[in-house]
Amino acid sequence: MITKQTIDKIFSTIRVEEIVGEYVQLKRAGSNYKGLSPFHDEKTPSFVVSPSKQIWKDFSTGKGGTAISFLMEIENFTYPEALRHAAKKYGIEIEEDQREFSEEAKSAQTERDLLYKIHEVANNYFQETLWDSEEGKSIGLAYFKERELKDDIIKKFQLGYSPEKKNAFTEYALEKGYAKEILEKSGLSIFPENTPTGVDRFRERVIFPIHSFSGRVLGFGARILKNNVKTAKYLNSPETEIYHKSNVLYGLNQGKQAISRKNVCFLVEGYMDVISLHMSGIENVVASSGTSLTTEQIKLIKRLTENVTILFDGDNAGIKASFRSIDMLLTEGMNIRVLLFPEGDDPDSFARKHPQEYVEKFIENEAMDFIDFKAEILLKEAGSDPIKKAEAIRNIVKSVAFVQNALKREVYLKEVSNKFGLSEQSLFNELDVQKQMTQNQNQTVQQQKENKAPKLEIVPKPELEIDSVQFNILHQENRLIDLMLMFGDMVLQRKNENQEKYEVTVIEEILHHFEEEQYEFQIETNKKIIQNIQEGIENDELRAGNFFLTLMDEDITSKVADALLIPDELSDWTTRNIFPPSIGDHVDLEVTNDILIHKYYYIHYMIKQLTSEFESYRDTDPEKYFDSIKKIMMLNELSRKITEKLGWSPVTKSPIKF
Ligand code: CTP
Ligand code: MN
Repeated sequence: MITKQTIDKIFSTIRVEEIVGEYVQLKRAGSNYKGLSPFHDEKTPSFVVSPSKQIWKDFSTGKGGTAISFLMEIENFTYPEALRHAAKKYGIEIEEDQREFSEEAKSAQTERDLLYKIHEVANNYFQETLWDSEEGKSIGLAYFKERELKDDIIKKFQLGYSPEKKNAFTEYALEKGYAKEILEKSGLSIFPENTPTGVDRFRERVIFPIHSFSGRVLGFGARILKNNVKTAKYLNSPETEIYHKSNVLYGLNQGKQAISRKNVCFLVEGYMDVISLHMSGIENVVASSGTSLTTEQIKLIKRLTENVTILFDGDNAGIKASFRSIDMLLTEGMNIRVLLFPEGDDPDSFARKHPQEYVEKFIENEAMDFIDFKAEILLKEAGSDPIKKAEAIRNIVKSVAFVQNALKREVYLKEVSNKFGLSEQSLFNELDVQKQMTQNQNQTVQQQKENKAPKLEIVPKPELEIDSVQFNILHQENRLIDLMLMFGDMVLQRKNENQEKYEVTVIEEILHHFEEEQYEFQIETNKKIIQNIQEGIENDELRAGNFFLTLMDEDITSKVADALLIPDELSDWTTRNIFPPSIGDHVDLEVTNDILIHKYYYIHYMIKQLTSEFESYRDTDPEKYFDSIKKIMMLNELSRKITEKLGWSPVTKSPIKF
């Protein structure tokens, strides 16, 4: 387990804007940054990062928290994984303390960790073999040199070599103390029954490590050196607990900054295409690596840019693949251009033949929008056959039907109409037909899903209905907790009944109120926060907002992020000439009033409870009956005094309007 000291160090070192900035394009907005939510498709940015408070808030999904909770959300990390990831990025050494874990948690945790670890070990092994062993140099490195790769690019992509020997890596890893089971799970080794030593998956191949968005090695691709017909040219890692090929894009880690800077992503087919383009100085490029593009992959790109240019081989397979990808990309709302290289070239060979500037210009000038692209290919195929021509046009309109945005769809349709001299009306009709067809397909899927799930009937549960008394008490409870989080360590100047001055922090004053009233919290998260604050006071520490951000509880961090962002959001409004009541200007008054208001609502909450039960005591327990009535009268008197203190009129009796 990571020590508290290390956790504190991590939290005090890392910068939320830097960590989030690797995933989201952030723009300054007053004292904050804003960007498009990475968790939700949106056009207007609703994702806010506060560098001064070190928190983020996604207003589209309601999520929010710290840099660490962001990593947990976006990378699916566990809390310790996220801490380790951040520590690594900032060069912080992790100290462990050996407290007990549950056995199950320990093994699940260590298995994922071990899978990452074994890939790191293998990655280093393959690189060392490439650079330092005779075999690696004379075969692997020689191969890369033949393909004109420079040393720095080989290192940048961490390319490696796996030796000819059957179990070279397996033996190495076993000797290092890695278990057979984890080697097998990683797919790096195979242990057939009759070979006790194990066999390497990759033998006599050059190695391309596949990285996650954040740069961890998840798996490998491995290429044979001779164009031997008998075995597959590339062999890849199998799906494992850490490697899901439909969620990964080759080159994304190395290209993410360039993609977001250039605001366009080039999409190619192969490992070598990515690498060659980098060598030419073109870094905004990723490869889907042999699989057809998936929605998850497109979403990865969309975090960085909405513009994709598909760069495909001029062969038939390339064209087919690009057609599929076009429809996928359009469905996800991306803007697409397509470029086919001259017959016989792929991005790799083309980039090696020509200087960077020429390649960039070529892509810029030759890439077509998807309508022109499909038209060129399909009309060439159709020749002068009028029926095939009509088919070609229908095929193009089919792609337009995938565009989700109605305005864009219309623009595209106009383009088709101009291009082919067809009436817009007939195209719209065709579009409707095509949309109907795709919708029908979707509906069948939907239908199947619905058939599987049992139908739920919604019956309102009486205990879930909130009445106004309950609503008010919840509201005010939250309000006091927010004040504690926002201004907890602020010192208030107070006077007691004898007019003697004393000082008290916001936290102490509100906590004192809760204790005095023996208040029962309505909301579990608030109860936890208060318990933490009390614990802090026992240890002589004042736990306000920032303290809670380091806790692992997602409900808490999210709530704290909300509270801390309120003043920020409001200060943004003033720049737009909207002046909200300034929170924080009169904290002393606010605390006094909010405590009183809370007391008032709590009194009415208790009155309501008493009224709901006292009738039943009338015959059974007269003493309790009169006792209840007395209590209610007393509470009513108290309530009247508080209204006076608050200066509320007896008619409205409430500052909150609904
Ligand atoms: N691929 C694969 N398995 C294969 C063939 C291809 O996984 N048996 C994937 C690889 O990621 C490869 C991509 O598909 O990079 C494109 O395949 P291809 O065009 O055949 O290879 P190139 O990238 O051109 O490889 P090279 O230039 O090294 O021949
Ligand atoms: Mn190639």
